[in-house]
Amino acid sequence: MSDSAWGQIEAYIKEIENTECSDNDALEQFRIRFLGSKNILKSLFGEIKNIENDRKKEYGQKVNELKALAESKYSSCKSDLQSSEREGAKSSMDFSLPSAPFQQGSRHPVSIVMNRIIDIFEKIGFVVSEEREIEDDWHNFTAMNTPEDHPARDMQDTFYLKNSVTNLLRTHTSSVQSRVMTSQQPPIRIIAPGRVYRNETISARSHCQFHQVEGLFIDKDVSFADMKQTLLYFAREMYGPDTKIRLRPSYFPFTEPSAEMDVYWGLKDEIDYRITKGTGWLEILGCGMVDPNVLINCNIDPEVYTGFAFGMGIERQAMLKYNISDIRLLFENDVRFLKQFSSVI
Ligand code: PHE
Repeated sequence: MSDSAWGQIEAYIKEIENTECSDNDALEQFRIRFLGSKNILKSLFGEIKNIENDRKKEYGQKVNELKALAESKYSSCKSDLQSSEREGAKSSMDFSLPSAPFQQGSRHPVSIVMNRIIDIFEKIGFVVSEEREIEDDWHNFTAMNTPEDHPARDMQDTFYLKNSVTNLLRTHTSSVQSRVMTSQQPPIRIIAPGRVYRNETISARSHCQFHQVEGLFIDKDVSFADMKQTLLYFAREMYGPDTKIRLRPSYFPFTEPSAEMDVYWGLKDEIDYRITKGTGWLEILGCGMVDPNVLINCNIDPEVYTGFAFGMGIERQAMLKYNISDIRLLFENDVRFLKQFSSVI
């Protein structure tokens, strides 16, 4: 018996050396035969009791060598098979196929216009200042010289927060003026972009939420001429170097004197007639010299400082720029609509 055990070991060594695992099945067969739970090695170890005592040690070593050989054969076969599988996968790739289309995101048209406006004012030293959308009555109205009985305060126009008579959704970015003026002393030169809310019926022309950009400049000796020049610079950067502007007298509680600025749009076709109501002029923004009462409310001395402010809506400018006829499209986030702006950074 013991002689045949020695002979078997030699035979198994040869068998292992000659094994070529051509596929995963053959590899698995090899594993079961030599390394599985009822494997050959176990029975060879079991033979040790039949070996003469003085050769038991030598026999044990021989069986261990066989075991090590089977294990290393198994792992080298396995890695050979894996790498040849990878090679196979590689060669079945077609590198000339076009890749899957890359979905590039895009900026919202409102953001595009807003960023453009911010860029223009940053070039001449205005700094962006962003503030809260939930405001209190004081910053939105009282500080801005808007009398208690002003119709803008009415529930019809303003969204007040539930169970609150003082907290509201800001109705204009002018609330940022009072926030900034109460927290810092002049010189102040800020631009404040953001969302505003008014309780209006939603239609193709108006919405209950929209965006404005506010500007505020307070320093010593700031004049109406400074304002006009700043706004002319803006209009020319925004609408082209030959753009003409005009200021019409207007009224805002927080500016005195107040004006509205129009840019000359022209009357080339029938659409121009419609959007400019036949005048060729398009209203772009409201502006004026900061009312001394506003400065006093915010603890700035009107004897020392003067300033100007302006505010403009973004949606209308985006609609003009991109020929969008319905403001609601700007809030619905329909991807088919938004995709059209994907080429614009
Ligand atoms: N807040 C005004 C509006 O919403 C615009 C404005 C801002 C006018 C600053 C003058 C000065 O219509």
